[in-house]
Amino acid sequence: MRCSCGSYPVGLLRSLSRMTSAPPTSSTTPAPGAGRIAVVTGASSGIGAATARALAGDGWHVVATARRADRLEALAAEIGGTAVACDVTDRAQVAALAEAVADLDGEVGVLVNNAGGAVGDDPIERADPDDWRWMYEINVIGLLQVTQALLPALRRSGDGLVLNVGSTAGRIAYEGGAGYTAAKHGTQVVTETLRLELCGEPIRVTEIAPGMVRTPEFSLVRFAGDREKYDAVYRGVREPLVAEDVAECVRWVASLPHHVNIDEMVVRPRAQAAQHKVHRED
Ligand SMILES: NC(=O)c1ccc[n+]([C@@H]2O[C@H](COP(=O)([O-])OP(=O)(O)OC[C@H]3O[C@@H](n4cnc5c(N)ncnc54)[C@H](OP(=O)(O)O)[C@@H]3O)[C@@H](O)[C@H]2O)c1
Repeated sequence: MRCSCGSYPVGLLRSLSRMTSAPPTSSTTPAPGAGRIAVVTGASSGIGAATARALAGDGWHVVATARRADRLEALAAEIGGTAVACDVTDRAQVAALAEAVADLDGEVGVLVNNAGGAVGDDPIERADPDDWRWMYEINVIGLLQVTQALLPALRRSGDGLVLNVGSTAGRIAYEGGAGYTAAKHGTQVVTETLRLELCGEPIRVTEIAPGMVRTPEFSLVRFAGDREKYDAVYRGVREPLVAEDVAECVRWVASLPHHVNIDEMVVRPRAQAAQHKVHRED
């Protein structure tokens, strides 16, 4: 497998549009990701797909990974990246992902652990332990396995970034959310611990914790395809965040100089001042 770092038509357009508001730069200034590889998990939809596009726009060769290969291939064709199907909860598949990444030309500069999700909203008294296992497996164990598999390459690059997509659910508690909040508190603590353990090494460690993001699948997965429950989450909220808003945060963090570590970034829509304080217009 070889990296086709030369052609990023969509990304080039995005970069040019950003340059209209950015300070003047030399036309020879390389893009932040030029010639380097970024691995994005959960890239078949929502925040992961938008992040893959945003990073490609900054010159990164993006390895897009998730379980649905058809979506990944379409995305990789669009952004000039590489698609690798992988279930992050399966250790053998994660090892195969790391091998596929190692076959590419270029250093691995960024890992975005974005694959994750929620299932169910039952109170603790009625919650299904299998739902909780699923959430822990994907939001914590999956993140652990991919991080372990790619840390050697990130270290070798001399300038690595592990960026974990957590959630404001990793900061608070809410009724019916204990399985997801427990898992996302796990994401938060693992991120913090990794930063401590890697201190002194050339690897930055960041968590981005979004609040309400209206992505097409997250709440459908959570509520087993129940459209009414999906609509109720965003009811009356004029402008929830969208996937591209979070992707822009990821892109910005990855574009910073290597000595600048953003420990954590909490990002919510203006209409959501706190988890329970959401302005609804109906
Ligand atoms: N939407 C929100 O309101 C919100 C708020 C805060 C945080 N977040 C977090 O942001 C991240 C992305 O959420 P999203 O809104 O973009 O949701 P999404 O569209 O449902 O994306 C989840 C992604 O994870 C992938 N995935 C699921 N299980 C996987 C597995 N076992 N192995 C590999 N990939 C797997 C899915 O792809 P496949 O099904 O193809 O594998 C999909 O690409 C998640 O970590 C979520 O917890 C979301």
